Amino acid sequence: GRILKTSFVGKGRIVYRDSADSTQNIAIALAEKHEDVHGAVAIAEQQNSGRGRMKRRWLSPRGGVWLSVVLKPSIPTAASTMLPFVAALAVCDAVRQRTGLLATLKWPNDVMVGGKKAAGILLDLSAEAETVNYAVIGIGINANVDTSRMKIDDREGRPAITSLKEELGGRDVNRLELARLLLENLERFYGMLESGGGPEKIVAEWRRRSDMLGKKVSVVQAQQGKKAAAVEGVAADINDDGSLLLKTKSGDVNVVSGDVHVSY
Ligand code: BTN
Repeated sequence: GRILKTSFVGKGRIVYRDSADSTQNIAIALAEKHEDVHGAVAIAEQQNSGRGRMKRRWLSPRGGVWLSVVLKPSIPTAASTMLPFVAALAVCDAVRQRTGLLATLKWPNDVMVGGKKAAGILLDLSAEAETVNYAVIGIGINANVDTSRMKIDDREGRPAITSLKEELGGRDVNRLELARLLLENLERFYGMLESGGGPEKIVAEWRRRSDMLGKKVSVVQAQQGKKAAAVEGVAADINDDGSLLLKTKSGDVNVVSGDVHVSY
């Protein structure tokens, strides 16, 4: 089917660009300028200054799915740490539904296929103490791109990357159908967070799609954007605030932000 079965995501303002600096910046500008932006979407065929987590660049050539969704969430500011998990769940299921590939989740918000990163999530939040003004969730999926030209900075211990096309043996993914499923799933999981289950429900769904819990990992924590030394331990669980519970030799550590290397 061609019709977007959502009630607000992708139903209002949509900005489509052949080429953009970053859809994240387009979406933020929309949210700053207009009131009726809950569910607004910015999408581009390619980005010239795509942004990744921890102030990194995100290479965004043609063939990928690069989009940002504006939300004006009626959730407490504290619960907004769950929004990237909501997005990762939506991507994971959309990839599974559309391609049959076994996409899995890796903390914090990476979507993995065959042990390599195929998609990433970025959250830009405008919030005061108690209320969220708006959230912009950026989603980048390496759909039909050639990642052999995209390998950058693996020395940082970042996961190797792949694309859906590469994992499908060279077959193209229908990006329109993938994006449609993604927006539908996003609305569904967002509804789960906003109404029913809250963070507990989202974390439970996340656990079911992750193969990283219980494994030995090495974590490079990020503090004020700077990298600290790697900490070794067992990835025991995800806390309800989205932080990673790491069991180390010297006790439990809650990792709020960082990169995880899984030693399988
Ligand atoms: C990550 O580091 O894993 C997050 C990557 C997020 C990339 C997406 S692509 C659409 C949106 N626009 C951006 O500039 N970044 C996000």
